[in-house]
Amino acid sequence: MTDALHRDLLELAQEAARHAGALLRDGRPADLAVARTKSSPIDVVTEMDIAAEKLITDLISGRRPDDGFLGEEGASVEGTSGVRWVIDPLDGTVNYLYGLPTWAVSIAAEQDGETVVGVVAAPMRGETYHAVRGGGAWATGAWEGERALACRPAPPLDQALVSTGFNYVTEVRTHQAEVAARLLPLLRDIRRSGSAAVDLCDVACGRLDGYYERGLHAWDFAAGDLIAREAGALTGGRPGERPSPDLTVAGAPGVFEPLQRLLEDFGAWHD
Ligand code: IPD
Ligand code: CA
Ligand code: CA
Repeated sequence: MTDALHRDLLELAQEAARHAGALLRDGRPADLAVARTKSSPIDVVTEMDIAAEKLITDLISGRRPDDGFLGEEGASVEGTSGVRWVIDPLDGTVNYLYGLPTWAVSIAAEQDGETVVGVVAAPMRGETYHAVRGGGAWATGAWEGERALACRPAPPLDQALVSTGFNYVTEVRTHQAEVAARLLPLLRDIRRSGSAAVDLCDVACGRLDGYYERGLHAWDFAAGDLIAREAGALTGGRPGERPSPDLTVAGAPGVFEPLQRLLEDFGAWHD
């Protein structure tokens, strides 16, 4: 029964991500502008973020009217079924605004508070990543069928390629830059893609050895975190904790632990 439910949730998440991805890819106005700002003047929302969230929540609630919702652009419904959808309709809005290709639709389904399904669609890559808890992580793209995802065998930390991101609030990003400056000489290099969901899936694909960021919300990491874990990566927050707005860390076993330790030593979660 649970497996059948998870399979249904996966198919619904894939359908919603496919439609929202097509809307964002094909419907992007040439004169796309900022509709409003949120935590700071550089934390922007476009009409397309709002339209994509509406498409996703309309589609899912039409099929499953008793489910709960948490969406970045305001969806907030308690629900009565025990299933809650956690949605970032457009992760990587600043890239999208500038016409850069790294952005994604991120949809997770939780059952009784645990993430059981994650789908991240990256339309400009032509790739979609998905996972069901306990069922491995998979990608579809410009190839036949589904490809199993596996994180990369861990290199020594000084040869690890690690991605991160910076918060929209000036004081937080200033501190993040200080942490990154201390980390950089200890790694192969640092990347900043502009989409937390894509970063987590890149850990799952073996395109990155690790990823960390402070200040994420559940909608940024819910789907990507499950996909990374199902691909064999370890994920967490501060030592002993789960990913949270304080800190999200992901990495191949062997990269995760030393990275998490360094982030703790450098106070990566601090104000
Ligand atoms: C942002 C992206 C970015 C990360 C920011 C997020 P948004 O999400 O994931 O990579 O560094 O912390 O807020 O605003 O584009 O949905
Ligand atoms: Ca986001
Ligand atoms: Ca977003």
